[in-house]
Amino acid sequence: MAMKRVFSGIQPTSDSFHLGNYLGALKQWVELQEGHDGFYCIVDLHALSGEIEPTLLRKRTLSSAAQLIALGISPEKSTLFVQSQVPHHNQLGWIMECLAGFGEASRMTQFKDKSAKGGADSARVGLFTYPMLQAADILLYQANLVPVGEDQRQHIELTRDLAGRFNTRFGQTFTIPENYILKSAAKIQDLQDPASKMSKSSSSLVGVLEIMDTPESIAKKIKSAATDTGREVTFDEKEKPGISNLLTIHSALSGQSITALESEFEGKGYGDFKAAVADVVAEHLRPIRAKALELLEDDKHLVDLLHVGAVKARTIAIETLEKAYKNLGTVA
Ligand code: TYM
Repeated sequence: MAMKRVFSGIQPTSDSFHLGNYLGALKQWVELQEGHDGFYCIVDLHALSGEIEPTLLRKRTLSSAAQLIALGISPEKSTLFVQSQVPHHNQLGWIMECLAGFGEASRMTQFKDKSAKGGADSARVGLFTYPMLQAADILLYQANLVPVGEDQRQHIELTRDLAGRFNTRFGQTFTIPENYILKSAAKIQDLQDPASKMSKSSSSLVGVLEIMDTPESIAKKIKSAATDTGREVTFDEKEKPGISNLLTIHSALSGQSITALESEFEGKGYGDFKAAVADVVAEHLRPIRAKALELLEDDKHLVDLLHVGAVKARTIAIETLEKAYKNLGTVA
């Protein structure tokens, strides 16, 4: 039986991915490489829907590739590539825009949140049409599974709707993908503001643990993490969102269950617990950071690896696009 195909993407919009990206999505990208055909994409075209800084875009695209390889994405096992090197994404994106309803697109909560942040008038059209490009990303590869964090659930739902609509109206063309969202780590919260998700666009990085942070910086951020009243280390997202978030992080990285951690820290204070979380995070990230820095010393090697990925991606993408065009009645 053919291996199931996995597709996912990440925006190169910051110098470092954060622990939310890692635990919510990237860790699953790595795990799913075994026994699946993985397509992993650095979605630079999506990044254009925010502030465009050419020097930073290039730097962050290469840094994203280095971090992905460092955290375990193997360019031999999987297809690792940059979105703009496969023009079929834009071509299928247009078809998706022509299938999606304006009202349907207007209901996307990420668009509503992001456009509200900068003032609705300054939001660009690309931010609005973003989910249709995301649908095209996934459908081009006939992906079965899409590992993402909770914040992408609605976009995957839209992708499924658009694929179903196309198939019903124009004939079987696309595989309908399923999301792959881990319940336990689908939403990592900001350390300073546990009511909000950890995010690259957060106004302060004090609450954001970055993959490329030094162990000292990790320890400092965790030490100053907002905690809750009381002193017991127990999981209660409502009453103790700060401690619960730290328990989630520890558990996801150490593999210990939340219950085991609660017993381990019974009778100890928040200070001891935070020190343990800092250790687990720093030790986990230390080799990843070192490997990424080493890879970043050779830009050309990274560029070459990404070109190989794009060649592999294009062969699949073109097949799907041709099928879609044919079913739409275009003359070849
Ligand atoms: P992006 O670049 O914002 O985030 C990359 C991945 O990280 C997850 N994530 C989180 N998970 C848990 N807790 C958090 N605090 C947290 N913050 C981010 C995201 O859910 C995502 O899985 N639209 C996508 C990129 C994209 C894509 C695609 C994804 C474009 N095309 C096709 C899948 C398939 C995005 O902006 O992710």
